[in-house]
Amino acid sequence: MTEITGLRESFTREEYTSPEIFDREMRTIYSTNWCFAGLAQNLSKIGDRMVVEIGNESILIVRNRENQLRAFYNVCQHRGSQLCDASGSGFGAAITCPYHAWSYSLEGELVATPLHEKDAIDRSAISLQAVRVAEWQGFIFVALDPNAPDLLQWLDDHYSRPRDLEKFDMASLKNAKSTVDEVEANWKVLGENYSECLHCAVVHPELVDLVPIYKTGKTIQDDRADWGVSLADGATALSYKQNENLPLLPTMDDLDDYSVFGAYVYPNMLIDISPTLAVITRYVPRSATHTTIFTDYLFPADVVNNKDFDLEPTIGFSDLVNQQDISVCVRVQRGVASRSFTRAYHTKMERYCRHFVRRYRDEIKSVS
Ligand code: FES
Ligand SMILES: [Fe+2]
Repeated sequence: MTEITGLRESFTREEYTSPEIFDREMRTIYSTNWCFAGLAQNLSKIGDRMVVEIGNESILIVRNRENQLRAFYNVCQHRGSQLCDASGSGFGAAITCPYHAWSYSLEGELVATPLHEKDAIDRSAISLQAVRVAEWQGFIFVALDPNAPDLLQWLDDHYSRPRDLEKFDMASLKNAKSTVDEVEANWKVLGENYSECLHCAVVHPELVDLVPIYKTGKTIQDDRADWGVSLADGATALSYKQNENLPLLPTMDDLDDYSVFGAYVYPNMLIDISPTLAVITRYVPRSATHTTIFTDYLFPADVVNNKDFDLEPTIGFSDLVNQQDISVCVRVQRGVASRSFTRAYHTKMERYCRHFVRRYRDEIKSVS
């Protein structure tokens, strides 16, 4: 392969389109890393449940009687029926299979086998298969790999420094709105797009008006060690409306400028902090060419609880940028499927994409 001055090779057409490679990614990357599963505030009561796809697996997360999170493969151990169809509340403290109504406790123990005498079956020998679950900053993560490092250690191993964002006390924020986008693009197309700002001046004219450094293609400012990026003079929020006096996120007050921060928590989570809003994005890869994007819009609880605040100009602006990104990613997915396309390239200015590719290659090699 000839080296091209100024360019590094990125993902190939096959890596963006092949079902076999997608399956390998699910069995390696999505089965060895912690994956973001959802907001802990959506599991606030005993028995609340969350059903999420992690890699090729359906995972059930519940809140138990001790107010702790528990996660299980969403599979009844009688004859294998999937247990729960959807996330929700109000199911009580038992998980009952829809097939023969065997019931499990919130600890995964088999507690009822209807139509059988109490002692006819040794129930203690059967239980739901547990999966590791942990919470950070109000975000629930699941690891299918029993040998994955502790969540905090794993977070520390990200070039994007997600733990720097702990200063915004994200667990204290409240979700005001959730959206779902079905996107005809590979999850890596989305991850690469998030990792660079070469496209910002072209694709996000409204955003670069508010964040001038993005016009240069840079994602961080050389003069700021905290990786914050300053808004334009006079701008106070990423919003259609400026100076609308929405309360700021915790700690934003202490910064000299109104600022924006972001982190790609590889492989499937984005955190975007702006003065008044935290946008939390979750990718669920469905196939090599399709990804579901879940987005939550978090504000300080006082803001969400006060109906006098109009959040739509802020949420709408963020969604505008999101839809602009989705539209270019779908365009990329159509292009990379062409027989004329061999591989993508990154320039030096896309250096975070290079981190992404490097980590991906290290991890996907581990498949047997
Ligand atoms: S498969 Fe679940 S109770 Fe039979
Ligand atoms: Fe973008």
